[in-house]
Amino acid sequence: MAFSSMRAFAEKLEAEKELIRITEPVATELEITALADREMKSPNGGRALLIEKPLLPNGSISSFPVLINAFGSRRRMALALEVTDVDEITDQIAFLLKAKPPRSLADAWTLLREGFDLIHTRPSRVTTGPCKEVVHRLDDGWDKFSLADVPVLKCWPRDGGPFVTLPTVYTQDPDSGDRNIGMYRMQIFDGRTTGMHWQLHKVAARHGKRYYETGQRMPVAVCLGGDPVMPFCAMAPMPDGLDEILLAGFLRKKSVPLVKCETIDLEVPAHSDFVIEGYIDPTEPLRPEGPFGDHTGFYTPVDGYPAFHVTCITHRRDAIYPATIVGKPPMEDLYMGQASARLFLPVFKMNFPEIVDMALPAEGVFHNLVFVSIRKQYPYQAYKIMHGLWGMGQMMFTKIIVVVDAHVNVHDTSDVLFHLCANIDPQRDSLLTKGPCDSLDHAPSVANIGSHIGFDATSKLAGEGYPREWPEECALPATLLEEMEKRFPRGR
Ligand SMILES: Cc1cc2nc3c(=O)[nH]c(=O)nc-3n(C[C@H](O)[C@H](O)[C@H](O)COP(=O)(O)O)c2cc1C
Repeated sequence: MAFSSMRAFAEKLEAEKELIRITEPVATELEITALADREMKSPNGGRALLIEKPLLPNGSISSFPVLINAFGSRRRMALALEVTDVDEITDQIAFLLKAKPPRSLADAWTLLREGFDLIHTRPSRVTTGPCKEVVHRLDDGWDKFSLADVPVLKCWPRDGGPFVTLPTVYTQDPDSGDRNIGMYRMQIFDGRTTGMHWQLHKVAARHGKRYYETGQRMPVAVCLGGDPVMPFCAMAPMPDGLDEILLAGFLRKKSVPLVKCETIDLEVPAHSDFVIEGYIDPTEPLRPEGPFGDHTGFYTPVDGYPAFHVTCITHRRDAIYPATIVGKPPMEDLYMGQASARLFLPVFKMNFPEIVDMALPAEGVFHNLVFVSIRKQYPYQAYKIMHGLWGMGQMMFTKIIVVVDAHVNVHDTSDVLFHLCANIDPQRDSLLTKGPCDSLDHAPSVANIGSHIGFDATSKLAGEGYPREWPEECALPATLLEEMEKRFPRGR
């Protein structure tokens, strides 16, 4: 059963002993960060926090609780996607990609079941929904309600203000009508205006560019909460033109019910906790946005981004405000990023059948470091993989790729570093290249462009100009290890 709201998800987390309720007032400015950061740095991501009485900067208590770190462990990420482990989804996607005529009755049943699940990928249309239980049209007089009533966090001391950190942002391609949902932070400028931090390479930025070319107002809707599948789909690097709503329907095994917005011509999930409607005015200059304590663990500096003008805020009567903080890893987004990497693994494997596994270690903060293991068959295959990955969607941002042999466990950083250090002749086995890079990366001299390095840490073949014999790794036979374990159990 798909989650009907953030509250339903919070209740599930509580039932699974994955959530702590904080009943005392906690300030949205820095204090929630201090509690959440402590949890996120605890073993296995600590627990989710439900801050029941968020203390707003004006000294009042917000009527909306804050849910934070709800995705911050492999288990909670699986609970959000309603699977026992995220790898179940990897298997489902691998199965779909391999779909071929059934060869047995069992095969046929499985295909039929998958087919039913796929029916749910299509959204349904409803005329109203819980997200409209309370409607504030800001032109009714915005002194009654504004963004200042929502418990938006000021995350780090030098942040330029409070930032909405788990928004799902709905935009439409003005030419094709294609929908996109992305997660782009929003700095609160005032009660009805925010920044819209879609970076240069993101899909909404491409949609926005078309509106800037035509000078037409760009409708934008921002949803918060609802089924936890939604923020996951928004941050997942789906190819441009592929609707995240389809992915959401597939993951929740239930159609996403869409409802029309009040003041703009866009549709949003009716089960959202909050919907913030508004527009971007292309005739307006970009506004300074930032600084912001970012995923990188550093503050990203002030830069120009579009201003988002709010026309209407609708919400559930018992809405919960979902938030996260980003910063030095490990943070909650690590688990979201890792789950999305598992989701795309079958797609990578379909393009590159030699890929065995892939990992984005925490220290690399999403794109900085990628480990990939391959079943190597021919000379320079590791370089083919590097080029291939740098050419696939947001993998273009990867700063460092390390390719290892199939037996290396890419989820064990120590195992990868051991093989990297042992197997490379740095000059021979590294490849430097140029390309676009993550807008958040402060290391390149010029924003958005930079270099990438790949290391071929696989064992070398004669065809790769290695005239010597590659040595064998020391290891004891598995049968001997098992027998010794039986005879001399650990901790006896
Ligand atoms: C917590 C969180 C915050 C994010 N904030 C931003 C952001 O402010 N700007 C941005 O361009 N990407 C941000 N991202 C990454 C995008 O959501 C991600 O690249 C997504 O795939 C973009 O969607 P798109 O490909 O449809 O543009 C964030 C991701 C997470 C998990």
